[in-house]
Amino acid sequence: MTVMTIYEIPDAVLREVAQPVDAVTDEVRTLIDDMFETMYAARGIGLAATQVGVTKRVVVIDLQEGEDDEGKPIRDPRAFVNPEILSTSDETSKYNEGCLSIPEQYAEVERPARCRVKWLDRDGAVHEDEMDGLLATCMQHEIDHLNGVLFIDHISRLKREMLVKKLNKARRAA
Ligand code: NI
Repeated sequence: MTVMTIYEIPDAVLREVAQPVDAVTDEVRTLIDDMFETMYAARGIGLAATQVGVTKRVVVIDLQEGEDDEGKPIRDPRAFVNPEILSTSDETSKYNEGCLSIPEQYAEVERPARCRVKWLDRDGAVHEDEMDGLLATCMQHEIDHLNGVLFIDHISRLKREMLVKKLNKARRAA
């Protein structure tokens, strides 16, 4: 498995709209495996193919919410091919979001609290499920990536400019 390069703002690839996957082939499964490897290496909980420069509609998520006896996060890898939001709740929730393409920067984003999602798994089987909590937030954040949208697009212009300024300052210091 390969750790891929994660593209960061303002790379233009992050603004591209990803193409649907025609068939879940071995090539797609290799992409999924490499995306998990990349996400774990970067200590993220979600990654869209767009972020590694592949404009295909593929998302990996592992919330790693539980801990084992040694205090290590329990892995629960989930892959989503062609994920599609079928409906969202009127009720919203706020979450302090971050993104591996906007490193170390966080902002509160308001989104629908629940969403109904349809997707293909790594074997090409169709699934449909109602998501809530952090999974719903993460799923919407990742599907945004497939549409060239970033979490900073959901906050005010002032907050966005401040966040980008902070990121650039941190980059200069590094
Ligand atoms: Ni992101």
